[in-house]
Amino acid sequence: MIGVKVQNLCRAARRFSSNVSIKDIVRYGIRKCEGNQGINGWIRGIRKYKDVTFLDVNDGSSIKNLQVVAATNTVPTDVTFGSSVHIQGKLKERDAVQQKFEMQATAIEVIGTCDNSTYPLKHKTRHTMEYTRQYLHLRSRTNAFGALLRIRHAVTVGFHKFFTEEGFLNVQTPVLTSNDCEGAGDLFKVTPDDESLSETTEGFFDKDAYLTVSGQLHLEIVCCSHGRVYTFNPAFRAENSRSRRHLAEFSMVEAELPFTRDITDLTKCMESMLRTVTDEVYTQSNDDVQLFNDRIAKGHRDTVENCINQPFLIISYAEAINILQNSKESWEFEPKWGADLQSEHEKYIVMHCGNRPVFVIDYPQSLKAFYALSNDDKNETVAAVDLLVPGVGELIGGSLREHRLHLLKHKLASLGLEKEYQWYLDLRSFGSIPHGGFGLGFERYLLFLLGVDNIRDVIPFPRFSHSCVL
Ligand code: 4AD
Repeated sequence: MIGVKVQNLCRAARRFSSNVSIKDIVRYGIRKCEGNQGINGWIRGIRKYKDVTFLDVNDGSSIKNLQVVAATNTVPTDVTFGSSVHIQGKLKERDAVQQKFEMQATAIEVIGTCDNSTYPLKHKTRHTMEYTRQYLHLRSRTNAFGALLRIRHAVTVGFHKFFTEEGFLNVQTPVLTSNDCEGAGDLFKVTPDDESLSETTEGFFDKDAYLTVSGQLHLEIVCCSHGRVYTFNPAFRAENSRSRRHLAEFSMVEAELPFTRDITDLTKCMESMLRTVTDEVYTQSNDDVQLFNDRIAKGHRDTVENCINQPFLIISYAEAINILQNSKESWEFEPKWGADLQSEHEKYIVMHCGNRPVFVIDYPQSLKAFYALSNDDKNETVAAVDLLVPGVGELIGGSLREHRLHLLKHKLASLGLEKEYQWYLDLRSFGSIPHGGFGLGFERYLLFLLGVDNIRDVIPFPRFSHSCVL
């Protein structure tokens, strides 16, 4: 009996605020919001007539605005597009399909005015992404970027849910680190601004420290005691690239799987993760996704759903090079064994394979970091995998890890890193296990999901070479 009562309690009444959010009104209807007759938000639209004025108010919780109806003589003159308001009134149901609710205002208070003559965002104007990119501090007020922020949240929840349900433990890996996981040399070095804090010549930490490029090595430590683990952290890369898919700071979802000997254990996990999270986000964030589908990349949702519901293909790096060399394309970078797959190559391979996700496996050792497991072949390949997807190219990178002490020792010695990575060798000396993992670029996944062209438009505060605004 008590349980039923608690369930029936107005959801908002259990909250710390008596104001109602538009999301709650849309989701639960007005009966559940009774007693909550105040709304805070920003004016998104005004239609003023002689006796009555209609205000569209948005509070960021939903792509939908709440229509407020007020007697024109009660609307303060400083209610303008963009101003922030608190409105008291009564919620009413409407017959309209699009807008099921409205508020009859009894009192309108302007909290913050907004001078439309200088405000960079204009009433009734659909600004381009290039335009709003100039105003990083204001663009979250646009419909498109507001939707994007809610989708980012839903995607984050989607990944956490997937890994939690699959029995992975979330591990917080450090942002400051003394290792170069990828060995690619694109590190940001960290030193105190105040040089006097670095008392010794070795610096503040008594050794060089960097912003992490990947949480993988720390994740491997915990994998070797707790099994399935994952992390969701920022990663930093000092790549001198201003391409549409590179950032200096991005988020990475990384997972590590224990007792794993076969690369298909990794590919199966990635495939399941992508299908589950994509399904979840398209369902949970339907209205927000629809905005991108209608305005930014028409029909993209169908394309993604078709693409992701086909079985993903697996080809070897050698096959990929063969496909590229046998094509009639004229390349900027000639494809050859031992060379990295360039963006033009990735695009061609995905197209050649029927515009579906393609795993490329078994790369030459020279292209991958020291930790990748050596295949027992004469080509000196490693059990590494990249997932290529339409429109984006590389979305995920991963590998089985070299767990055999003598082989890892040999590799590290050849790189002069044996002493530095003694702790890593310890993991192989004491209860070593075959394991493997992967990392997915969060912003690249958003490009894939929404069909956005430029990675700078799917992150609130993009950082790239020559740009660190705010
Ligand atoms: O392929 P990467 O370099 O793999 C690793 O860092 C592994 N240590 C991960 C692991 O096995 N735990 O990077 C993983 C993914 C790439 O596939 C790409 O999607 C993304 O991270 N990525 C970037 N995204 C945006 N901007 C950049 N500069 C990126 N560099 C990599």
